[in-house]
Amino acid sequence: MSFNPQIPDWGKSFSDNNLEKLLSYHNWLKDTGIKTGLISSKSDQFIWDEFIVHSLYFYKIILDLNTSLTNVYDLGTGAGIPGIPYGIVSDNKVQLVDIKQTRIFELERFLNTNELPNITALKADAELFIKNQDNSIFLMRCYIPKDDLIEKLKKHMFTNKNNLFIISSKSDSKELNKDLFHVKQQKFLINQDEYRFIDVITVK
Ligand SMILES: C[S@@+](CC[C@H](N)C(=O)[O-])C[C@H]1O[C@@H](n2cnc3c(N)ncnc32)[C@H](O)[C@@H]1O
Repeated sequence: MSFNPQIPDWGKSFSDNNLEKLLSYHNWLKDTGIKTGLISSKSDQFIWDEFIVHSLYFYKIILDLNTSLTNVYDLGTGAGIPGIPYGIVSDNKVQLVDIKQTRIFELERFLNTNELPNITALKADAELFIKNQDNSIFLMRCYIPKDDLIEKLKKHMFTNKNNLFIISSKSDSKELNKDLFHVKQQKFLINQDEYRFIDVITVK
């Protein structure tokens, strides 16, 4: 089947102008990403829909929230998912964080050969960011499950203030209202017929 770099209607306004950069990232993922083990072997269409389009929805959420927060951290970024597509379509400063130095070296090589001055990569333990950072946006795709994150947040309520966590989620779940944070789930299409879920957690 031929590869179609489709963008669902919800993403056209901010993605169509950045298609060339998104396609370069797609090329890098399907060649270097697979060769270096950053991602496992997948079809071109899967890489586009599941890694790139899915990542763009993280930006759509932030756009709709109209937040004044501008510092973005992609925790457990792996191959730069979702931080690189997010940084391509956004002016926010995005830091890609992963505990594995080899992943950071590969990401730095990609960032150095593409014009993406708002994106940087850092080898660090994501725990430290969850513990200490305030006034920030955190993106997490397939890093830790929502319930584990909520447990960690409960432990660090005194330092973790005014943060937004945008975290991929596996299935439909009820909206939760808690005293300390608010959790809301969003459901969206990554192509014509496949839905995905992202939870938005606001720490007050
Ligand atoms: C399942 S991969 C997900 C990668 C990417 N976000 C995605 O959606 O494809 C999890 C990533 O988290 C990284 N990781 C695991 N523990 C970490 C930690 N404590 N701090 C930062 N990164 C961590 C791993 O090295 C790996 O790259």
